[in-house]
Amino acid sequence: MDKLRILSVFGTRPEAIKMAPLVKELAFREGVESLCCVTAQHRQMLDSVLEVFDLKPDWDLDIMTPRQTLSTITSKCLLGMDEAIDGLKPDMILVHGDTSTTFAGALSAFYHQIPVGHVEAGLRTYDKYSPFPEEMNRKLVSAIADLYFCPTENNRNNLRKEGITEGVFVTGNTVIDALKTTVRSEYRFSTEELNRLPYEEKKVLLVTCHRRENYGEPMRNIMLALRQIAEENEDVELVYPVHLSPVVREAVDRYLRGAPRVHLIDPLPADEMHNLMHRCYLVLTDSGGLQEEAPALGKPVLVLRRETERPEAVTAGTVKLAGVVQDDIVTMATRLIRDKAAYENMAKAVNPYGDGRACSRIADAILWHFGRLAERPEDYRGN
Ligand code: UD1
Ligand code: UDP
Repeated sequence: MDKLRILSVFGTRPEAIKMAPLVKELAFREGVESLCCVTAQHRQMLDSVLEVFDLKPDWDLDIMTPRQTLSTITSKCLLGMDEAIDGLKPDMILVHGDTSTTFAGALSAFYHQIPVGHVEAGLRTYDKYSPFPEEMNRKLVSAIADLYFCPTENNRNNLRKEGITEGVFVTGNTVIDALKTTVRSEYRFSTEELNRLPYEEKKVLLVTCHRRENYGEPMRNIMLALRQIAEENEDVELVYPVHLSPVVREAVDRYLRGAPRVHLIDPLPADEMHNLMHRCYLVLTDSGGLQEEAPALGKPVLVLRRETERPEAVTAGTVKLAGVVQDDIVTMATRLIRDKAAYENMAKAVNPYGDGRACSRIADAILWHFGRLAERPEDYRGN
């Protein structure tokens, strides 16, 4: 029997972190040729992940340009994917999540009549413009996909409400698989700035912010809130690995740079980031991935957004929506910094997003779909 050619397509940092363990899992499987095409929607931040997980793409579209628009990303991905598909001849294409790469990868597969597996399927806010453009990307990919790998039961229910019931698997999120390979208690960072942070004596706050719907006024409010938090709390050190987007860097330079106790650093390699999260006190972020990782590590998260498509950890009590209003963010962060009971209430390790075996279930589901495995994999039912 010919080997199944499974092509994983990704382009940004979070997709790469969450797809790396799956590309590897598929490579271990007999009867599978695990192929990988990167769009390089992100260049440096993607390459850093490829290095950490020791992945060598079979195809690289190298599309990134400074200040790229949604239309340029999508059209360049589509054109590049034509060649990649002709060259790699996959039996199935896997895309991840909700980026422009995800949407273009799925659309291209459809144009070539190749089945699509959607990893991290079924997340929804039901607000077309928030997160923008991710909510629409994932809905569009849902319409195209043949297999759906939902991290949680809640995600499966979202698909069911849209009439999608065939080919749906609950697998857990592959980010937990990735996290299990990176976090170590004796980890040493590559810079002394991070090694020397007073993790025990002070409160290290880890911050990230990059979402398009936060550009402008919300991002200004967030930066001013961070400044105020650092100025008003002498026992705090705020560490912020700043995304390479020029829009984000301008906001940081304008409103946050120069504040006391604020460490503005370049994006970290994934293993450094995960270990920093493991040691920090509190996470403030508008990132999707951090909302999944921090609860697994027992770190409270304040989400710098008005909504979230990841309500599971909010329900579990380790994540709270702080919004994008300066006073609200400052009030909620200050409480967690000064009120030990409030902090302890949130700081419990919960893991609604997976048990570290998501990739194994996804690989099984793909093999089962192609008739190469007798048993349908059991769904992930929580820890
Ligand atoms: C993209 C995704 C978003 C995801 C985020 C993860 C879309 C529309 N958005 O947003 O869903 O949450 O990635 O970080 O797909 N840049 C570099 N080097 C890099 C990476 C980015 O210089 O390694 C700069 C480029 O100038 C680029 C800008 O950052 O134009 C923004 O990157 P882009 O991929 O367009 O959007 P993100 O905000 O990163
Ligand atoms: N991350 C990283 N280095 C950083 C910041 C984030 O490796 O400096 C990781 C983070 O741990 C998570 C992923 O990148 O795994 C999240 O990516 P991002 O916030 O860019 O995108 P989102 O998850 O919001 O789509």
